[in-house]
Amino acid sequence: MEIVFATKNEGKLKEFKQLVKGLDIYVLSLNDVNFDGEIPEEATTYFENALRKAREVSMFCKRIAVSDDSGIEILAYNNGPGVRSARFLPELTYKQKNKKIILDLEGTSGNERAAKYKCAIAIYTPEGKSFHCNGECEGVISSEPKGKRGFGYDPIFFLPEYGKTFAELPVKIKNQISHRANAFKKAKKILTDLKNADTTK
Ligand code: IMP
Repeated sequence: MEIVFATKNEGKLKEFKQLVKGLDIYVLSLNDVNFDGEIPEEATTYFENALRKAREVSMFCKRIAVSDDSGIEILAYNNGPGVRSARFLPELTYKQKNKKIILDLEGTSGNERAAKYKCAIAIYTPEGKSFHCNGECEGVISSEPKGKRGFGYDPIFFLPEYGKTFAELPVKIKNQISHRANAFKKAKKILTDLKNADTTK
C-alpha cells in the first residue's frame, strides 16, 4: 500500500518512515507526488489543521494521505500558544522566544511551570474517509535553556523523569516518547487496519 505523508519537514518524514517500517507500507513525500501547494494552518484545533492538509493532499494525488499538526501548551499562558505555536511571536527567533518564556515564568515553581506538547494526526482516504488520533508529552518549562538537539521549544521543555530537556535527550529517546511518537503509534494501528482492508495490496 502506498501512502503520502503530507509534510515539508524532512525530520518528520524520516521519523514517520521509521515508524511504518515492517508494515509493507510505502511512504511517499509531497515531492514524490509533485504537490507544491501551500496549505495554511489557520484553524483553531490541531486536528482541523491536520485534516485539511491530509484531505487536500489525498484529493490531489488520489492516495491515502497522513498529516500532523502540533504545538506546545504552557499552563502559565492559559495553555497558549497551542495551535498557534508556529506563529507565536513571529518577530523573535526561537532562542529569543525561549528566553522570553523563561522570563515570563520567573518566580513560578512546580506545577505553575507545567507544559505539554500536543500532536494530532489525520488520515484521509481517496474514498473520503477520515481518521484521527492524538498524542501528548508532559513536561515543565526549565529555568534556563539547555541542550542543542531538537528544535523550537525543546531547549526549555524539561522532562522531570529524565532530568533533561528535550534538546539534551538523544533524538532516539525523544522519538520514542514525544507527542508525535505517541500519536504515530496510534496512527500505525489505523494504517495497519487500512492496509488489511486494501484489496489492491
Ligand atoms: P507543526 O506541527 O510542524 O506545524 O509545528 C507547530 C509548532 O509547534 C512548531 O513550529 C514548534 O514551534 C512547535 N513544536 C511542535 N513540535 C515540537 C517539538 O517536537 N519540538 C519543539 N517544538 C515543537
